[in-house]
Order: sequence, then structure tokens, then C-alpha cells
Amino acid sequence: FWANVQMGPADPIIGVNEAFKKDPAEKKYLLGVGAYRDDNGKPYVLSCVRKAEQKLLSENVDKEYLPITGLESFNNAAVKFAYGENSKPLAENRIAVAQSLSGTGSLRVGAAFLQRFLPKGTKVYVPKPTWGNHITIFKDAGMEVCEYRYFDPRTNGLDIAGLLEDLKAAPDGSVILLHGCAHNPTGVDPSKEQWNEILNLSIKKNFLPFLDVAYQGFASGNPVEDAYSLRLFAESGLQMMLAQSFAKNLGLYGERTGAISVICSSPEEKARVLSQLKIVIRSMYSSPPLNGARIADKVMNDPELLSLWYSELKAMSGRIIDMRKSLRDHLENDFNSKLKWNHITDQIGMFCFTGLKPEQVDRIRSEYHIYMTRNGRISVAGLNTKNVKYVAEAFHAVTK
Ligand code: LMR
Repeated sequence: FWANVQMGPADPIIGVNEAFKKDPAEKKYLLGVGAYRDDNGKPYVLSCVRKAEQKLLSENVDKEYLPITGLESFNNAAVKFAYGENSKPLAENRIAVAQSLSGTGSLRVGAAFLQRFLPKGTKVYVPKPTWGNHITIFKDAGMEVCEYRYFDPRTNGLDIAGLLEDLKAAPDGSVILLHGCAHNPTGVDPSKEQWNEILNLSIKKNFLPFLDVAYQGFASGNPVEDAYSLRLFAESGLQMMLAQSFAKNLGLYGERTGAISVICSSPEEKARVLSQLKIVIRSMYSSPPLNGARIADKVMNDPELLSLWYSELKAMSGRIIDMRKSLRDHLENDFNSKLKWNHITDQIGMFCFTGLKPEQVDRIRSEYHIYMTRNGRISVAGLNTKNVKYVAEAFHAVTK
């Protein structure tokens, strides 16, 4: 049966973990997958999460199936967190929401829904570059994926002119995928004015914006600030979709906690959309996992845990911002690099798009045992006060 099954390539992001594990070197550092680490390089379970877990344990909760759309109180809290307490579509009961499996699962359910209900041949436009999995998720769901210009390697910033030009040329009614905050892999986000331009074009072209928001509160430390684009689009009256993840901001990576929401034009439309989301989900995985949603629900619905969460978000994002400064400082002041490294501190969120070329990334891996994706992205969360100078030394060695 399997004689014709060819060996597949390793995942460009997850494969870095696997290569790292195999490296016998004692001094080695992993800056690949986006997962938060503390200053000792250890995974960090948030205190608000630990406290929520203790509460759940003392409540002796059962292990029954969740409904197809997940835990209702989690869903309500998740959309309130995303869209805001005063959200118009929320108040008007126009948002269909289903708990799903973190960012990927939410995108995948959304993509399957689009594939079923948009006119055949509708294209999905993703930024160039984007998180590699975006392209695979939409293609696997049977959608045609196109790219719009996003990153300008000459400035290490946003190519807003290219972005607008490409989106203007896209067919009306296309789906446009937008990273709501902390673009992965580049760490480059549009300014507020540029978001307005993208919104206006979306209205003019009747686009369906699909926002992927995986870093709310994690980029700036402030969940409201990080929801700027999302709320701008949601309040505009457009129909849109949102894939929400609690992997990074609540550190619930392996719990697979997230939500897919669809803004509709009326409560009646919402009911129809939700009924179809249920049909999509039932045949994919029946119902979502329980534990992470319970934890997130507890945190978001308990004022004490909520304020603890917000302080932990500030601490995590603050440490990342400090590491950006430190990496740049070592490069410019200790190693006197002649190159410009301002993009390290200009970019935001978990990742820095260093500008290193694949061959330089390979050298850093073989000579310094520092692991990152070949597109030159590092997870800044993998840096700490003990390894940042060594990483700067490696960057300098391969770029001088
Ligand atoms: C990443 O980009 O490293 C994260 O979003 C994790 C993943 O699943 O790729």
C-alpha cells in the first residue's frame, strides 16, 4: 500500500526543534519555534494558569464531551477579550463563535467554511512572507492562495505601496488574510494610518478580511492596543473572520486553545453560519479539547486572575523588548558591527526577522549551535541574559 509514499520534507518551523534535539553539543540554543522562555531558557507556565488549574482541581470537574462549538463561557470571554466590551457586532448579537484548536485549528475550520460557501475560484491573499502554515492550511482546505507584497528587505519595514497595489489588483470579493498584530515572521506591522488605508480598500473592494490574532497582549503588553486593527475592522460594519489563539498570550501551547469567529450582518445570519461551522467541525474533530478552554475561561472570568494575567503579559512582553535592545546593543557596541540593526528593536512581538540569509543561518547552526528558521527568523523569547551576547557574536561573525 505505501510503496509509493515519498519521504516528506520536515516542517520549516517544527523541523528546527527536531534538528536541535539531535545536536549532541552541550552549548546549544533554540530560537526556532515561537514559544516563550524565561530568563533561564525554561518554558514558563503563567501563575494565573497555575491558579486556575488549582481552582479546577478543587472543583472536581468532570471530563464530559464539550458541545461541538466548545465551552460557551470560554467563547463569550474570548470574543469579549478580542472585540472589546463595547463591541458593536457583539452587542448586536452578530458574531458566530466556536472554540477551536488554537490558531491553526481555527484557521483550518474557517478555511473549510470559506471553501464551502464562497463562490468557486475565490482567492485567499496572504502577505509575502507569511507564517508558512497559512499557505498549507488554505491549500489543504481547497482554496487558491495568492500573495500580496508586505515586507521590504531594503528597509526591513513594510512595503505599504506594494501591499496596496497588489490588493487593488486582487479581484473584488477576495479573502485577505491579515496578521492582526505582531506579524509572523517579520515583526513588522502597519501603522494606525496604514491600517485605515487597508480597511478603506477592503470596504471598496468588498474583501472578506480574515484576521489571524495570535499575539494579543503579547506584543505590547496591552491587549487593547494589540487589538487595534481587529477592532477597527470589526467596528467598520464589514463581515469578517477572526482566528484567535491563546497559545502565546496565556502560554497554553499544548492545550490547543483558541476560537474562530465570524462577524455576520444579522443575528439570523449568525445562526445560519454557526450551524454550518458545527457541521464542518463535527466531521473534523467532533468537539474541541476541554482543559485549556476551562483554564482560559477561569482566568478571563475571575477579576483577580485576570489582573494577574495582565501583569504577566506585561512581564513577558517586557522581557522580549529588553532582549531586542540587548541583542542590538551587543552587535553595535560590543562587536562594532558596521551593519544597521535598528530593525531588531523596531519590530515587535515574538519574532525578529534578522535579515540573515539561509547560508548564514546554516553557518550559525553548524558553527555556533544556534537554531533558527532558514528565513532568518528568530524567536526573541529564546534569548536571555546568559546567551544574548553569544548570539550577537554569532550574528556578527557571519555578517562581517
Ligand atoms: C511559530 O511560528 O513558531 C509558532 O506560531 C508555532 C507554530 O506552530 O509554527
